[in-house]
Amino acid sequence: MLDNFLHVDDFTDSQLIEILDKSKWIKDKFKQRADYTPLKGMTMAMIFAKPSARTRISFETGFFRMGGHALFLGPNDIGIGKRESVADVARVVSRFNDIIMARLFDHKHVLELAEHSSVPVINGLTDFNHPCQIVADLFTVYETIGRYKDFTISYVGDGNNITHSWIELAMILPIKLNVVCPESYKPDMSLVQKAKDKGLSEINIIHDPHEGVRDSDIVYTDVWASMGQKEEADERRKIFNPYQVNSALFNATGKDSYFMHCLPAERGVEVTDNICDHKNSIIFRQAENRMHAQNAIVLHLLKK
Ligand code: CP
Ligand code: NVA
Repeated sequence: MLDNFLHVDDFTDSQLIEILDKSKWIKDKFKQRADYTPLKGMTMAMIFAKPSARTRISFETGFFRMGGHALFLGPNDIGIGKRESVADVARVVSRFNDIIMARLFDHKHVLELAEHSSVPVINGLTDFNHPCQIVADLFTVYETIGRYKDFTISYVGDGNNITHSWIELAMILPIKLNVVCPESYKPDMSLVQKAKDKGLSEINIIHDPHEGVRDSDIVYTDVWASMGQKEEADERRKIFNPYQVNSALFNATGKDSYFMHCLPAERGVEVTDNICDHKNSIIFRQAENRMHAQNAIVLHLLKK
């Protein structure tokens, strides 16, 4: 079967640890500006149905610097599922390219793309999950605290695509994950149950923000209204207000904790400026590490 990367738990624990090691290795190579071009002559199609900064820039830059060429196909180019069926897009694009990365709305579409593609497919975010982000996040945690397991992370905010990929991670490496969210914005509880049934990690759904972050090594947040939900932003702001990561909430960990955010952040909404710019904020290292972690994922899928 073709290797794709659509969910964090598509990797086994040992594959994920290999990816983390490779991320470090390739990060060092990039820092040295070493001549490393294993992807010479190869192309990656990047299909975007939603906007992006980090995902586009990190994939395009990373692929280019490893010797290949990445094609940006924006929302008005392919019209995936509209101008042409997802299956036919997969059949056509995979005849031209060695690998596909796609950022789509409907998670079923990325599954369908992978099913009909003759080359590996990487999920660059759907409404359901964002696996590349969480691999980069884990690499960042590893660099920061020296462990890729046995840490406590409190994800504060909407039970969204980022939350789901943290839950996927909790199925392959043992962590303590607190999802701290309003009652009506919980993550997919069938996924939570599946992760709990694995019995590897402790996963708690907590509604009290201060109780939720207590003793956490990491406090993580994301926008309250994701792409595709922006018309709900005003209503969500009222509901999520107690979940803003500000000094009071960040200090409620009772520890020298780190702050993470997948970005883009709405400063002054889900997080205050002083926490984004806090000495223990690792948000920009997290952003940079998207490229190194994804390079490792691409090399793994292309067997390089
Ligand atoms: N974190 C992330 O995926 O950022 P972009 O939406 O800018 O790609
Ligand atoms: N939850 C956010 C993540 C952006 C990287 C969104 O889907 O818009």
